[in-house]
Amino acid sequence: MADKQLNYKQYLKLDKILSSQRLLSERNKNHSHDEMLFIIIHQTYELWFKQIIYELDSIINYFSSSLIDEKHISLSVSRLERIIEIQKIIVDQIRVLETMTPMDFLDFREYLHPASGFQSYQFRQIENKLGLNKKDRYQIDNIEYKDFINKDEQINVIKTEEQNSLFQLIENWLERTPFLDWGDTTFWIEYEKAVDRMLNEDIESIKKNSSLTNDIVNKRLEEINRTKETFGIILDESKHQNMVKRKLWSLSHNATKAALLIFLYRDQPILNNPYRFLSKIMEVDDLLTNWRYKHLIMVSKMIGKKMGTGGSSGADYLNESINKHKIFSDFASLTTFLIPRSSLPPLPEKLTNKLNFNFNSY
Ligand code: HEM
Repeated sequence: MADKQLNYKQYLKLDKILSSQRLLSERNKNHSHDEMLFIIIHQTYELWFKQIIYELDSIINYFSSSLIDEKHISLSVSRLERIIEIQKIIVDQIRVLETMTPMDFLDFREYLHPASGFQSYQFRQIENKLGLNKKDRYQIDNIEYKDFINKDEQINVIKTEEQNSLFQLIENWLERTPFLDWGDTTFWIEYEKAVDRMLNEDIESIKKNSSLTNDIVNKRLEEINRTKETFGIILDESKHQNMVKRKLWSLSHNATKAALLIFLYRDQPILNNPYRFLSKIMEVDDLLTNWRYKHLIMVSKMIGKKMGTGGSSGADYLNESINKHKIFSDFASLTTFLIPRSSLPPLPEKLTNKLNFNFNSY
């Protein structure tokens, strides 16, 4: 009877998983002890990538709706939190691989050519699903990243290029935020006034401070002018467009305004979940960058300046891609435009009532 019942090994398909570690060094009659670790680490990564894709797909699905249920924002936050915990593990996992020395690696590295993590199609799917734009990728010798991947797997990667990415869906969602219109005025008009007030007060207090020398006064005033110019980047729509054109900013102007409103008024109950969601997505991006960085350091220790088995320049390529492949950096940059709570324009009473969950009457 017990034999016919489902057991642990069958349920987890352990036969398949545990017989999937074939050492190339063994096949070449040159057994290398560390190749087992090398294979298992990569397989573990691919399993975690699968789980990340699974979670991302559910969030993409929620955000694909033109009206996102509040409960789906909470669920998305929980799923992002899960992705974040997985990412922490996979960043940490590099330490296990680092117990292999460069000499141990050299024992079997020659058998790997031309295979490389570079060809991980699940990694490319994660990047695309998050929103890494094909045009923003760092290219090697003008060869598209997809061309390094097998034809069969390319199809899956192309699909993720064609789907709406999380970045695009979040941008659309932000553009639909209804709280920018304050009736007689708008959030943007009031924010601009508040920034002006804040900077003018700073100018006044510098001018009034008799303990400052003329030199210091002029330097401080110059600093304030620079701050004014920085604020102009988002306050002036044409400057914002220019930033987008120069690829220094990705979010549309309306989405930028809405994100800033969420960041500034995060304490309002209805904006708290969107704030948590945006914070989590920034954390996912940070941890991806963190992984790229840790991977680069490990690769540099392991192979120095040698070329990668996948055909790139190796560490140099990985280094270049770290900053270029950030996806949600606009959100992190919004910190520049935060103003203290004491300078925030007060919300109109009617709106405060709505932000306290009387949303339907808005
Ligand atoms: C001894 C350990 C490792 C070395 C020496 C190494 C080396 C490299 C190198 C040189 C590249 C650049 C592409 C190339 O020319 O091959 C690369 C890319 C990559 N590797 Fe590794 N790697 C190691 C471990 C891992 C592990 C454990 C993973 C986990 C999946 C991984 C995933 C990736 C990914 C996803 C890329 C593409 C990164 C990108 O294009 O931004 N690597 N690796």
